[in-house]
Amino acid sequence: MMAPDRYAVFGHPIAHSKSPRIHALFAGQTGQALDYGAQDVPAELFSSAVAAFFAEGGKGLNCTIPLKELAWAYADIKTERAQLAKAVNTLALQADGRILGDNTDGLGLVADLTVNHGIRLAGSRVLVLGAGGASRGIIAPLLEQAPSSITLANRTVDKAIGLAGEFAHKGAVIGCGFGDLENQQFDLVINATASSLSGSVPPLPDGLLANNAVCYDLAYGNEPTVFVRWGQQQQAAKSLDGLGMLVEQAAAAFFIWRGIQPQTQPVIALLDAERGA
Ligand code: ATR
Repeated sequence: MMAPDRYAVFGHPIAHSKSPRIHALFAGQTGQALDYGAQDVPAELFSSAVAAFFAEGGKGLNCTIPLKELAWAYADIKTERAQLAKAVNTLALQADGRILGDNTDGLGLVADLTVNHGIRLAGSRVLVLGAGGASRGIIAPLLEQAPSSITLANRTVDKAIGLAGEFAHKGAVIGCGFGDLENQQFDLVINATASSLSGSVPPLPDGLLANNAVCYDLAYGNEPTVFVRWGQQQQAAKSLDGLGMLVEQAAAAFFIWRGIQPQTQPVIALLDAERGA
C-alpha cells in the first residue's frame, strides 16, 4: 500500500495549532488518505525546513506566524491574491516540481462572514483595525465584496495611510489613526491588530457601531477575546472571533491540495463545542 500524501503546518510557536485536527477531520469526511503534521520552525530555519519537507516527498504546507512573509518569498509562483497580500499561508507542490504560494486567509474571512454568518458586505461601511500583515491579507478579498468603503485605522497612522494607498486602485480604502474615528459609524469592525495578544483593545470611541453592526476578531481562543468582549459591551448584533475563518482558510488550502471542498460547518461546530466544554 502506498504511504498517504504528507502535509504539515509550520510556525513558531506551533504547539497549540488546531490545523492538524482540522485537516484530519476534513480527510475523514472526504475519504482522502493524507497525513498532516505540525512542525515548530523558527524563521531562521524556514528555507531549509521547507526544502527538506518537499525533498522528502511532502505535498503541501501551511505557514503561520511568523513565517507567512518568508513563505511568500520562497514560493516559485504566486496567485494574484498572494501577490497582493505579500504573504503566503499555503504552499503546494506542482506537477512540474515548482512550489505554488497562495493566501487563503482573506477568502476564509469572507466565507465565514458571508456564508456562515449571513452577513452582507456589499454597500457596508467596514473598519479594519491594524495595518500589519494580517490586515494586508484581507483587504483585497473584502474589496471584492463591494463594501461602500474600507477604513484602515492604526496606532501608527503612516502605516495605515501607506497600506490604504497600495489598495486605492482596487476600491475606496482610507487610512487614518484611532483618534480620527470620532463621530464615524461602521457596519463591520474587524480587529486585525496584535493587541488581543497583549489583552488590550485599541482606543476606540463609543458610538462607533451602527445599528446591527458586527464585530469580528481575526484572533480566537478558548475564551472570548478582549475585542469580542468589547463588541458585546458596545451592543454589536454579533461579536465573533476567528475560529470560523481558521476553518475556512484550511478548507481552501485543502481544496488547493486535493481538489475537493470539505464541509466546514460541522468542523466549526465541533471545535466550537470542544472549546466550550
Ligand atoms: P501581523 O502580521 O499579525 O499583522 P504586524 O505586522 O506586527 O503583525 O502588525 C501588528 C499590528 O497590530 C499593527 O497594526 C500594530 O500597530 P502599529 O503598526 O502601530 O505597530 C498593531 N498593534 C500591535 N499591538 C497593538 C496595541 N497594543 N494596540 C493597538 N495596535 C496594536
